[in-house]
Amino acid sequence: MAKNIMTGGITRREFLKGTGAAITGVAVPDIGLCTTGTVAEAGTNETATGTDLVTISLNVNGLQRTVAIEPQATVAEVLRGPLNLTGTKIGCDRGACSACTVWLDSVPVASCMMLAIDVGERKVVTIEGLARDDELHPVQSAFIAHDAVQCGFCTPGLVMSCVALVENNRNPSLEDVKSAISGHLCRCGTYPHVFAATLDAAKALRG
Ligand code: FES
Ligand code: FES
Repeated sequence: MAKNIMTGGITRREFLKGTGAAITGVAVPDIGLCTTGTVAEAGTNETATGTDLVTISLNVNGLQRTVAIEPQATVAEVLRGPLNLTGTKIGCDRGACSACTVWLDSVPVASCMMLAIDVGERKVVTIEGLARDDELHPVQSAFIAHDAVQCGFCTPGLVMSCVALVENNRNPSLEDVKSAISGHLCRCGTYPHVFAATLDAAKALRG
C-alpha cells in the first residue's frame, strides 16, 4: 500500500478525528440517519430480537460481519447504525449528493441507494477501510495537504471516488478527476482543492 507522502506523519486516526471534528463543528446534521438493526459478530449465537429483522452477512473492510436488520435498510444505514462505521455520511438519502459513497467490489456506489440485503458476496469498503496499518492513503494525505476539507461532510465520499480513480489510473487528467467526482456535491466549494489533491496523489503514486 502506498506511503504517507505529504502529511508529516499524520495518521489515519488523526485524519478521521480531524474530519469528524470539522463535521461536528458546523450545523450540518446527519439527516436520514436511521439505526436499523443489531450486529452480531460471525460465529456467535446472537440473534435478532425483532420479528421483522433478517440476518445477513456482509464483508466490510475485509471483515465478515453478521447483522440483523430491517429488510428495507440501506447499506448506508447499516454501516452507520449497527456497524457503527459513521465515516460514511448520509446527505440527501436519495442518490443525489454522493456523500454516502463506498466501494462495492472496488467500484464507488451510493450506499443510500442500495439495500443491504442485496449486497450478497460483494465486498464493501468504507472510508475507515482505506488506510493500512494506520497509514493514510496518499489521497487522504493530499486532501489534508491541499486543504480540501472544509466542513468535511462530503469529504469521505469524495475521497472514496478519488482513491478509486488513482488506483485505476495513475496518470489521470484534470478531466478524469472531474469525471470521477461528478455527482459529488460540496457546498463548501472545495472542488479546486480536491482536483489538486487528487492529481498530486496520483503523481506521488507514480513515484
Ligand atoms: S446520501 Fe446517498 S447520494 Fe446523497
Ligand atoms: S467540505 Fe463542506 S460540503 Fe464539502
